[in-house]
Amino acid sequence: MDMPEYPDYAEQNREAWNEVAPIHRQHWKIDLRQAVQSDSFSVLSDIEREVFAQLSVPDKTVAQLCCNNGRELISVLKLGAKNGTGFDISDEMIKEATLLGSLSHTRCEFVRTHVYDIGEAYAGRFDIVYITIGSLGWFHDLDRFFAVVNRILCPNGHLFIYEMHPILDMLALPGEDAYDPEQELRIVYSYFKADPFVETNGLDYVGNTQYEAKPAYSFPHTISAILTALLNSGLALRGFTEYRHDISDTFAFLEKYQMLPMSYTLLAQK
Ligand SMILES: C[S@@+](CC[C@H](N)C(=O)[O-])C[C@H]1O[C@@H](n2cnc3c(N)ncnc32)[C@H](O)[C@@H]1O
Repeated sequence: MDMPEYPDYAEQNREAWNEVAPIHRQHWKIDLRQAVQSDSFSVLSDIEREVFAQLSVPDKTVAQLCCNNGRELISVLKLGAKNGTGFDISDEMIKEATLLGSLSHTRCEFVRTHVYDIGEAYAGRFDIVYITIGSLGWFHDLDRFFAVVNRILCPNGHLFIYEMHPILDMLALPGEDAYDPEQELRIVYSYFKADPFVETNGLDYVGNTQYEAKPAYSFPHTISAILTALLNSGLALRGFTEYRHDISDTFAFLEKYQMLPMSYTLLAQK
């Protein structure tokens, strides 16, 4: 399949995320609309809670890029953050996030936008920019991505990333032609793969259903590409840790090997 250029691929991704939004909604294990009303609502891991404690989240202004349905940002607000803004390209995800936000008794707003297009109105606004699971791969140009992060952070503000490790991009998933249950750790794609992944079986990592989907385009990035773009933006690296546990669910079947870096946290400061 030919790869559309930017911004067309992003518009197609927007449609693909709009398409999966109602499917995800059906498959969440908990009733989010009910759950977000509780003061103790949280979908955060212990690792994320520790980092937010280290960043003294109470009274901080927090942005989440690629916020999806807002459940993670709402969880950060429940830790006492002053207010939060979630940005996401999907109309349907932002609609759901806005509804969950309004039910959550927290001060949050959700903005439908491509990250590259986040406006000047947000320049210097945030103490913390938060990015999680399955976000960086949607951007072909990481220099441009981290320039936006730097622009919206206030002086001394922090960037916190909790992401899937790019090494996972080298392996095949069950359901793919290249997947071999006898050799689950077989390298299928180059770590330096330059062309995007094109997904046409859908983006339902919540219910794990497959459907004939609108294509979604994502970009593999090496760790050095991520770090270089971050440093190019002017941010200072404060911490980087790799973990053996999976945070995607999609690759959870590989945790048993305890041989791969499967996720990482990254802390940077303006
Ligand atoms: C895998 S989700 C990750 C978000 C969150 N960590 C979660 O687990 O729900 C990726 C999100 O990125 C959004 N997204 C994709 N491309 C984007 C772009 N160019 N700008 C802003 N959001 C984008 C999608 O709409 C989707 O909600």
